[in-house]
Amino acid sequence: MELIREADELRDITGSWRAAFPDPLPGHATISATASPPATTPGAASAVGLVPTMGSLHEGHASLIRRARDDVPRLLVTIFVNPAQFAPGEDLATYPRDEAGDLEFCRRLGVDAVWAPPMEEVYPPGVGLPEPDPGPIGETFEGAARPGHLHGVLKVVHRLFDLTGPCCAYFGEKDAQQLFLVRRMVEETSLPVTVVPCPTVRALDGLAHSSRNVRLGAEEREQAGCLFLALSEAAALARGGETDAAILIAAMGREIGATPLARLDYAAVVGEDTFEPVTRLDGPARAIVAARFPSARLIDNLRLPPAAAEH
Ligand code: PAJ
Repeated sequence: MELIREADELRDITGSWRAAFPDPLPGHATISATASPPATTPGAASAVGLVPTMGSLHEGHASLIRRARDDVPRLLVTIFVNPAQFAPGEDLATYPRDEAGDLEFCRRLGVDAVWAPPMEEVYPPGVGLPEPDPGPIGETFEGAARPGHLHGVLKVVHRLFDLTGPCCAYFGEKDAQQLFLVRRMVEETSLPVTVVPCPTVRALDGLAHSSRNVRLGAEEREQAGCLFLALSEAAALARGGETDAAILIAAMGREIGATPLARLDYAAVVGEDTFEPVTRLDGPARAIVAARFPSARLIDNLRLPPAAAEH
């Protein structure tokens, strides 16, 4: 596995991978993402798979890497704690970091190269990089709680796409608003990359794996399952035929409100195709929640099932 620091070296290596695999390969050509756009874009080389991360890797990241490993002949993982996506006063300085552990993690999973750059390789001083606009969705939910966060995410993801020219890039559904905006950026800019959504990986009690979970104390950790419980209640109501989003939202709020260490940030139901709040369930929708614990802010979401057919 190669460890890359410089942007030029990254361009060279990913360029050589594309040159070595100019056409879709049997077995690598069909990307089996169920909910993503068609496999490889015509004309795009299908050599490079990209898994962008901020490191402190866990089972959620591993699922993206394994999925990519199955799809593409060459796999790049990036590890960069992106200052542009931290709001002022957030935990940029104390974000969990473990480069040696992450490199070993990637090596074991068969990653071909890791790009772990210093800041100036991502954001060269004096160079104005494209800053894709997340639009109004960038101001809601995560964007409202963390001003500038989603702008910063799109800026770094665009930079990574530009440097590496991936055929496929893998993102977790865990960060549903981020995934929504990355997919929209790709559509709007016609970038020749397939964004592959990957299901959320959870602990046994349903808590979604997240790099910040390590901060939770024993009592917080015990109560952190309330997000998934809340989402599961919303899903059960939807399955039972409830179509009033306000009822689902109230149920989620009650569950999190009844958890002593949790403070509800938001609970909402959004349309899958718009990420805008819906009042009735009359199409694909997703329940989303965020809650603050004393040591970490947690987010989660669940696709809502259609009502079970009556017999
Ligand atoms: P990070 O939080 O490190 O997550 C990297 C990728 O792993 C994201 O696509 C995220 O959705 C996915 N992921 C995290 N936890 C997951 C889980 N439990 N199950 C499945 N996937 C999970 O998200 C970021 O970094 C950054 O915003 C980034 C996209 C790298 C841009 O800086």
